[in-house]
This record gives sequence, structure tokens and C-alpha cells, in this order.
Amino acid sequence: MKNITKILVVALMVTTCFSGCGTLKNFDNNSAEIEIFDDVSMANDTESSTVSEDEISSKEEFSSKEEFSSKEEIPSKNDTAKESKITYYTYITESQDNQYSEENQQDAQNDDDEQEFYYEEQEEQEEEEDMEEYQYHYVDGVLIVNKTYGIPKEYDPQGLIPECAEAFEQMVSAAAEAGISIYDNSDYRSYAEQEELYYEYINIYGQEWADQLCAKPGHSEHQTGMAIDCATWDSGYFPGTPAAEWLEAHCSEYGFIIRYPYGKEWATGYGYEAWHIRYVGDLAQDITDSGLSLEEYFGLV
Ligand code: DAL
Ligand code: ZN
Repeated sequence: MKNITKILVVALMVTTCFSGCGTLKNFDNNSAEIEIFDDVSMANDTESSTVSEDEISSKEEFSSKEEFSSKEEIPSKNDTAKESKITYYTYITESQDNQYSEENQQDAQNDDDEQEFYYEEQEEQEEEEDMEEYQYHYVDGVLIVNKTYGIPKEYDPQGLIPECAEAFEQMVSAAAEAGISIYDNSDYRSYAEQEELYYEYINIYGQEWADQLCAKPGHSEHQTGMAIDCATWDSGYFPGTPAAEWLEAHCSEYGFIIRYPYGKEWATGYGYEAWHIRYVGDLAQDITDSGLSLEEYFGLV
């Protein structure tokens, strides 16, 4: 019965289409081991990323502690995921409630002007705190966005930056001349889009796995307009394809790096993503030749 459930769930995962982060693949019945790989290539159909209640409950079974007992402790139920989201919003609501009740106690007798002043002060303080949390972090002209360094919600290029889009077009043409098909499966994502995607991942995989596959809102390079998830028409699964090999060998010639290289999870914070390229311009060749991840290259770890 368990095996049937697993097969159904794996089939469901393959047909569930995300355009964005990674996914869990290669479910091993015997060892209950999971490897983290690309989902991008599964996204030939990029239409729907909506998760139905049925899908969620199937996946609850899939990620139950029992089935993973021989491997890592995984947040056992999607309840955890749902709770995380609820906690997140509850926190915001409670903060606001506290703010109002404190204000009520403190300024119950004050007139409207004073109350307004109080709110303004609060807002300024919150904005300052936000700015402290989200300092832009540039190194050698490269905007660093990772689990440590975020960008504000308001950072919104509204698409790929022109240099990146142009470089990608040139790269795709060169690949085509070499008989390789590469296409842009996912590029710019707004803060709100990343937020939606992140919570979908939590709902499906639980917080712990989601954090290895998908960046929190404000911490995704996709929001910079300088990251692209590549895919190929030749295969439903990108890593290991001629296209992935070509991309790894040639993307630096066009100003891109493989941002989450194999074996660098400890430095980047994410599993290997053969498909996620980041535009860094002239530094791409040097970074690639160094064999280092961006974090190591810039001495950030
Ligand atoms: N999958 C990468 C880490 C992102 O969500 O930006
Ligand atoms: Zn990506």
C-alpha cells in the first residue's frame, strides 16, 4: 500500500508543474532517500502551480515522518508548513494589535494630532529597521542576494535587466548553432511572486526542504532581474543533458555563472541547480575559472 502511495505521489509530483525553484526527485523506495534536483525541466507545462487540497493531502503522506524514518528528520506534517505560514501572518497581525493597544493605553487622552504623530514615529522606526535588515550588499559591483543578504520588497526591475536579457539571447543563439536547445523557463519574479512560490513549496515539502529549494521572498536572485532558470526542449529533466553540459561550459562567455554549483550547498545554502544562471557580466569568466561559488569567490563564507 505504501509503495502504491509513493508511486502515485511521485507521478503527481511529476505532473505538478512549477516554474521556479527546485524539487525533490529520485525517491528511493528501499532507503526512503530523497535527492534534491531540478524541477525546471519538469515545467514544460508551466501553466499551473496551484496545489489542490488532494495534492496536499497526498503529499502529507509522502512526507510523513514514518516514510523518512531512515533518513533525515523532516518537518513531519504539512500542518507544520501551514502553521509556519499562519505564524508568519499572525506575527504581523499581533504586532499591529500590540502597537494599537499600547498606543491606546499610552495616548488614550491625547488628541488626534498627537496620535498621528505617534503613528508617524512608529512608521519611521519600522522603516529604519527594515533598511537595516535589507542593506543592499554589493561586492565588486555585483549585487549579492542569498540567504544572508536580501533586497527590499520595493526592488523591482519589472523584468530582466536589459544587459542580462541581451546576453541570454546571444547565448541561446550560440547554443542553437551548436545544435543545443536552451530556453528561458523562469526569469524575473517579483517579491510577491516569490512569496507565493515559497509558501507553495512549504505546503508541499515542509519548511526544511523548501528552504533548500526555494529562496524566501526578498532573498531570491530572480527578484533582481539577473537570474534565469534554463530548460531544454530535448528532455523533461535538465541536469546531465547536453544542454546542461553546454550551459556549464559556455555560459561564462556570455556573463553568466552557474549560481548553485554541485557540491557547494554548504556555501550557497541551496542544492545543486544546473539550470539557474546568474548574470554577473565581466566577472563571470574569472568566477567560473576559480571553481568557486559566488560566496566563496567573494569571501562571504
Ligand atoms: N531556487 C532559487 C534558490 C530561488 O528560489 O531563487
Ligand atoms: Zn532559479
